[in-house]
Amino acid sequence: MYLSSDDKANNDNFYSNQLLLHTSIIFAFLQRLLISAVIMNRLPTLDPHVLTIADLKEAACHDMPKMYRDYYNEGAMDLITLKDNEAAFNRYKIRPRVMINVAKIDLETDIFGIKPSSYAWTRTSRWRIGNIARSSKSERVYGIISFCDKSSGRCDRSGHGQPIFHAHFDDQGQSGIQWWTLILITTDKVTAAGYKAIFLSVDVPVLGQRLNEHKNKFELPEGLEWPNLTAVGEGLEYDATIEWHTAIPWMRSQTKLEIWLKGVASPEDVALAIQHKVDGIMISNHGGRQLDGVPATLDSLRDCASVAKGKIPIAFDGGVRRGSDIFKALALGADVVFMGRVPIWGLAYKGQQGVELAVKILMAELRMTMALAGCRTVKEINRGHLAVLKGDGVLCKL
Ligand SMILES: Cc1cc2nc3c(=O)[nH]c(=O)nc-3n(C[C@H](O)[C@H](O)[C@H](O)COP(=O)(O)O)c2cc1C
Repeated sequence: MYLSSDDKANNDNFYSNQLLLHTSIIFAFLQRLLISAVIMNRLPTLDPHVLTIADLKEAACHDMPKMYRDYYNEGAMDLITLKDNEAAFNRYKIRPRVMINVAKIDLETDIFGIKPSSYAWTRTSRWRIGNIARSSKSERVYGIISFCDKSSGRCDRSGHGQPIFHAHFDDQGQSGIQWWTLILITTDKVTAAGYKAIFLSVDVPVLGQRLNEHKNKFELPEGLEWPNLTAVGEGLEYDATIEWHTAIPWMRSQTKLEIWLKGVASPEDVALAIQHKVDGIMISNHGGRQLDGVPATLDSLRDCASVAKGKIPIAFDGGVRRGSDIFKALALGADVVFMGRVPIWGLAYKGQQGVELAVKILMAELRMTMALAGCRTVKEINRGHLAVLKGDGVLCKL
């Protein structure tokens, strides 16, 4: 067949177009292969609607009446400390180390005489005691607060710890009865082991001012009871008279459990806690619900850790929403990291399943952060893994 030069040119064009088409099909195919390989490698999606704790909060709060939503999510006065608790984590950058074999990541820590994963929950009410997230081989730690609407006695097999949960004092003539906020620390193997420690909330001599409760005319749901406080009766008052030299010896006389102070935020008080031989401190500002204007707990942790380190174990809470937040708190000296609102959002989203989802998300995020930062164990995480950006934009190692 004869081809004119025009035909030839057209033909050449046709073939080169065909070649281009085939090449791009092959390229697209290879690209798909590559993408699916990457996709195969990504973390499993636990819930298509909830990939992060931020998603969990949104899902949990979507249909929640404003009165309850604000009660859980807001805090004292202008919410400055509340917001700073979360913002503080973004002020720290992670300094990753590479070429370290991170095929095996161990999340366990060593505290309360057990080996839980390095974070835990504090809970306030409607808690299904000792009944969540048993899937992990390591124990999880929970705090059961005196306000809990389940009786602490229901899961107490240890024979000690129970009486102090009802700690209250006659106020010698004034009206009302004074009492302390206590949190019993337990684990998911609680039925066998009993309580591990008792946390005394030392940041509540009086209650902070939470404006949302006034604006929304907050009321507790009908029928909610506090079975742990039945002995206290009407006219409950916080104990504004609480002091180091009376409270700690009295608690020691009442319980064999470890005694921890929750709500310590200044190095001077860390030194006093060591002096009074308490078993541990929790750096906390009550999730921004007490004194607005105090530092973010992450900043307090950095301030307090040098006094505490090696002398007294440090628990930490406030604003933790990601696995990388847990990493940063551990790097700044926390031995164990607690969360308050996260399990509440989990419960509101899907009950027990929602709390388990939160646990899994945070476990996966912490494991990934540790691997990418070059840390195989919790003990390997240290201040050297953190930096801050100075005002002039220069990265500064801690
Ligand atoms: C609704 C609600 C009620 C709380 N009640 C108490 C309490 O009675 N005693 C206490 O020590 N802490 C209480 N907390 C504070 C938590 O124990 C914890 O310190 C705080 O929530 C941690 O901050 P996060 O929520 O940002 O994790 C409460 C927190 C929330 C959200």
